[in-house]
Amino acid sequence: MELECKCGNACIKNSEEILLEIEAAHSPCSLCSPLKLKKFSPLKDQLNLDSINLQWGRCECGKRHIDSVMAHILKIMINEEIRNDKSTLRNSVVPLITPAYPLKNEPYLRDNSLIVLTSKMDEKCAEIIQQEVSEVKAVLKGEIKNTVGIKDFSSTPHVYELLAGCDLRCDILNTAFGPICIHKNQSQIHIEVPRHRSPKITSLSLFLKNNNLNSDFKVLDATCGPGTLGIFCLKAGAGKVVFNDLWKPATTMTTLNLESNGFKVDFFDEKLEKCKVSNGENFEVYNMDIRKIDSFLDEKFDLCIIDPFPGVDSKEFVDAIRNLAKNTLII
Ligand SMILES: C[S@@+](CC[C@H](N)C(=O)[O-])C[C@H]1O[C@@H](n2cnc3c(N)ncnc32)[C@H](O)[C@@H]1O
Ligand SMILES: [Zn+2]
Ligand SMILES: [Zn+2]
Repeated sequence: MELECKCGNACIKNSEEILLEIEAAHSPCSLCSPLKLKKFSPLKDQLNLDSINLQWGRCECGKRHIDSVMAHILKIMINEEIRNDKSTLRNSVVPLITPAYPLKNEPYLRDNSLIVLTSKMDEKCAEIIQQEVSEVKAVLKGEIKNTVGIKDFSSTPHVYELLAGCDLRCDILNTAFGPICIHKNQSQIHIEVPRHRSPKITSLSLFLKNNNLNSDFKVLDATCGPGTLGIFCLKAGAGKVVFNDLWKPATTMTTLNLESNGFKVDFFDEKLEKCKVSNGENFEVYNMDIRKIDSFLDEKFDLCIIDPFPGVDSKEFVDAIRNLAKNTLII
């Protein structure tokens, strides 16, 4: 499988590349100057907006404090009458940094490291932001409170609107088995907040530790999203992982993430015409409703992971895999 982003740029990283660059990615150099803007006060009351341009607040290392970048974006939105003079940094856009990992301090951004999510935007303004603000990788229109994807089989899928750029983002998770990089097109896959210790990985690790599974244990990651938990199991020594998700973009991302984390993909149905999306030596990826998976899979698993969206009743999910798994972990 070619590890190439649809946009043609180097958006996809492998976990080793990420590890090398991660510390420096969003840190200031010794010359970067700090900036303090009041996030809840109108930007226009704090600055002469005409003074903001691409070089404004930029260090010779090429980075700018996140507030400089956000102020630049908001200035364009005010000029384009998407926002008004009362607009603040806090109420205008949600900054989604890539690669995403837990930050101790406010970040300094380099080119192509910020995806902007905002409820008010039009194509023209998005294009201007994309062209003028070099840190911006993509502009998405949507409400952060609306979860992207399919919540369960009975709900209508929801996506953010990609108005400019490429929205491929990479989350980094530190685990006992090394870093895992989870790519996602942010318009199509839900947002996870980066944490020092991922609560999902922590409960899965505890489960693996407390239940003496065979050394080559088999796992069904039944609602895999972009593949995080199953990929962790492979790193932790699973003999086989079957990934499944009802949402096609999730299964494409799982396939890409398997490859970018070092698991070779031997077959990939790029057109997503069949239930089986991809496979490699010790994994398979399916695009199915969990309620049908029992009649489709003809094998037993040591562990089935069910990770539904918050607010979704997992009972039907658990019932659906009852005959397939010796153990079920609901996350
Ligand atoms: C919270 S996300 C999973 C996140 C994933 N475990 C991770 O850590 O990246 C929930 C997933 O359940 C999937 N889902 C919802 N209904 C489903 C169903 N009936 N069958 C299979 N997957 C389903 C959604 O598409 C979504 O990807
Ligand atoms: Zn891209
Ligand atoms: Zn600098």
